[in-house]
Amino acid sequence: MSKILSMKELVPTIYEAVVEAPEIARKAKAGEFLVVMPDEKGERVPLTIADFDREKGTITIVFMTIGTSTYKLAAMKAGDSYYAFVGPLGHASEIKNYGTVVMVAGGVGTAPIYPIARELKKAGNKVISIQGARTKELLFWEDKLAGVSDEHIITTDDGTFGRKGLVTEPLKEICEREKVAVVYAIGPIPMMKFCTFTTKPFGVKTIVSLNSIMIDATGMCGGCRVNVGNETKFTCIDGPEFDGHQVDWNLLTSRQKIYLAEEKCSLEKYVEEAKK
Ligand code: FES
Repeated sequence: MSKILSMKELVPTIYEAVVEAPEIARKAKAGEFLVVMPDEKGERVPLTIADFDREKGTITIVFMTIGTSTYKLAAMKAGDSYYAFVGPLGHASEIKNYGTVVMVAGGVGTAPIYPIARELKKAGNKVISIQGARTKELLFWEDKLAGVSDEHIITTDDGTFGRKGLVTEPLKEICEREKVAVVYAIGPIPMMKFCTFTTKPFGVKTIVSLNSIMIDATGMCGGCRVNVGNETKFTCIDGPEFDGHQVDWNLLTSRQKIYLAEEKCSLEKYVEEAKK
């Protein structure tokens, strides 16, 4: 049982929880993930670590309400405890001095990209961040990300803040402008996919963090399988980070939809019960 120390809605539909988890905080590294269960019956929700504080023994998670389990997580308050809070899982990001790195965050992807950007900055890299959101009111952690970046660009789809347009536009300009060693792209699947399409002509290594559907998160069930470089990989034990230029995006996109009907039905049932 891990206790929630603080809980807040950062922006509509996106929540931040700071959780007491000294054992996990002691070992946590940027890029790793956790499995969180709101209650005994909830599904296992994989969440990439958004922040950790070894001294305070805390882990920060940020999630968006999408289905029943994330709605259950959002309904929990400071003082409540998660039924399960397991981690750190997966491989950590490879942190070293690459030179210039570009961190591209889409929507809730800002949270997992932050600790990676922070560690890359500490390792001596020039960090350029591009943070994208649909609209101004969905932007969060701009100051945190800017604080670990040499250059910080914001884009919104509707132009309500920063540059109007998609993250791929400044990404292309930066690749044209200077030598980029590595790009990290974390966010919705289409955004990561188009970031890899943007960097491919420049030959810039592009790492993505995949959020494929997980069940056991131990490499046993095969639920999280993805195809990378024509090989089957398990996101939970081989990832979550992969070379984006090698990912079979069509397969990933179709696999993300396989439980849509069940997810919709579960959410409708949860909403009905919550009204009673
Ligand atoms: Fe089961 Fe990865 S979640 S193999």
